[in-house]
Amino acid sequence: MLRTHTCWELNSTHLGQEVTLTGWVNKARNLWWMTFIDLRDRYGITQVTFDPSKAWFELPEIKAEYVLRIKWKVISRPANMINKDMATWEVEIEPSSIEVLSTCAELPFSVDHENAVWEDLRLEYRYLDLRRKTMKDNVIMRHKLFLETMNFFDQKGFLHLETPTFMKNTPEGSREFVVPARFEPGKFFVLPQSPQQHKQMLMVAGFDKYYQMARCYRDEDPRWDRQPEFTQVDFELSFVEQQDILDLVEEYFLHITKKYYPQKTIKEEPFPVLTWEESMNKYGIDKPELRVENMEFIEVTDWAKKADFSIFQEAESIKAIVLPKAMWRSEVEKKYEAYIKSYGSKALPWLAFTEEWVKGSVAKFFDENAIAELRKIANIEWNDKTVFFQADEWEKCCTLLWMLRLQAIKELDLLKGKEDELGFSFVVDMPLFEVWDDWSLGSTHHPFTKPKDEDIPFVKELGKKLSEGGKMTDEERARLLQVKSDSYDITLNGYELGGGSIRIHDRELQHAIFAILGLTEEQIQVRFGHLLKCFKYGVPPHGGCAFWFDRIIMLYQNMENIREVIIFPKNQKYRDVMLSAPSEIDDDLLNSLGIAIVKKDE
Ligand code: AMO
Repeated sequence: MLRTHTCWELNSTHLGQEVTLTGWVNKARNLWWMTFIDLRDRYGITQVTFDPSKAWFELPEIKAEYVLRIKWKVISRPANMINKDMATWEVEIEPSSIEVLSTCAELPFSVDHENAVWEDLRLEYRYLDLRRKTMKDNVIMRHKLFLETMNFFDQKGFLHLETPTFMKNTPEGSREFVVPARFEPGKFFVLPQSPQQHKQMLMVAGFDKYYQMARCYRDEDPRWDRQPEFTQVDFELSFVEQQDILDLVEEYFLHITKKYYPQKTIKEEPFPVLTWEESMNKYGIDKPELRVENMEFIEVTDWAKKADFSIFQEAESIKAIVLPKAMWRSEVEKKYEAYIKSYGSKALPWLAFTEEWVKGSVAKFFDENAIAELRKIANIEWNDKTVFFQADEWEKCCTLLWMLRLQAIKELDLLKGKEDELGFSFVVDMPLFEVWDDWSLGSTHHPFTKPKDEDIPFVKELGKKLSEGGKMTDEERARLLQVKSDSYDITLNGYELGGGSIRIHDRELQHAIFAILGLTEEQIQVRFGHLLKCFKYGVPPHGGCAFWFDRIIMLYQNMENIREVIIFPKNQKYRDVMLSAPSEIDDDLLNSLGIAIVKKDE
């Protein structure tokens, strides 16, 4: 070894010993009477001090981030220089030799400060960015949680089984990245968006408890909080019911919280379980921020319809939210109205209450009795409050009020002091289908999710009718959109951490779902024939879940951005700015793949 100790190890028990340290120059200061070098490695910092006029060794040029090898004696640090922030605060090194192992070019940004640096520059020089303390801590915690997750599932009897990263194009929901097959020109593998089908086939194989720290790839349009490749904690079990999985998920999060984040408090245990409908009605979203109390939506449709106000009269649904502050018109208009209108809201009707007065944009539509009634419905006591209303079609009304809730949380700083609170919840019973932009039906989770038992006969019958050439009626479509699934999401502080479902294990039902999704018999066989074939051979009832590992670390480490916890992430446009990828490839390679590039018009 080129070193005897790390830069974190030395303390008063090493006094007088001869040591050799290696590391990067975190900081070097030359005062006329003393030279100080803070030598840093992954473990910490040790200070090296000497009087340059008395140094009997040849002193090389030393600059920030040079890599040095320093030999000699551990001495005690003068009492007036003690810095208890350093692990090695008791001692220093008095060098007898300083060797430069590597120099460092001018840095694009300072690595011994956490000052803000343009993100693309950080990503271009990620190896430097990773030297910064926050990044280093994130990387180390990522490793610890990775290992702990492996151990947790291992101890519960799960097998870590690797599924392929080259698979077949079998759309589960997202667009897939394709990999050209050179030996079969014109044909392609795809990268898996998740190990979903393989893990289900592992259940058929009899491996009743599977898990995997799985790399997943999704060719979605760039979103600030996503990455095209990410890591899932993916697992699947046979012979289970929904509650078994929720119990396991809860145990996992309690375990990692207690072991690695004891300073964090869990808002509610056992984790609250909300149906999707409840979550939408109370918070407007299926990933509620539960750390803020008393800000659930209030259903006021009947009350508000009494007002002679066209926006209320025309709306399918009217909901309200009570904010803990009586606002003036200017505040409402400036901070909330323009914002919510930019997301398609027709208006922001509001009422503000104090002990003395009630005012607001819709005050003129309500008499004293109506206001008293609202105070009762919305539980508004005689102190400062503002009520915001949204009136629209049900889902839009929920979504707009969710955005207003988030905006108020930010503007009124309602999460202050709650940075270390963990508001988990389970959201269950999502609709089985959703309507996509082109009006077609898609699976809300994925097509392998089991409908609720009571809807299975209807779904099977409809699927059979469609595969025999029949057409779906408007009534059937409306009923289908009411069908709920045996699915669940785990959410934390307004984010989705993961999701899963009990799966379909009945071949006929699985076929019906594909037919309802609009696939022809030929498409079903081409895309999912392997699964339907497998499902002929003894399928255990099964279910599973996948957590987004990166996001778990992001939230536990109190980071605001997923890229802070991914070691070499893509930037916000999904480019690797360090490698400069994606990039063009040689014509020879293209030819061997049988691929010609067609330039698209800009
Ligand atoms: P789902 O598609 O819900 O389920 O994904 C599971 C979790 O992965 C996260 N996620 C993403 N993370 C980063 N970048 C992305 N582009 C991205 N897309 C999704 C989501 C989600 O919580 N096979 C199923 C799981 C199962 O049913 O067992 C699946 O992948 O936050």
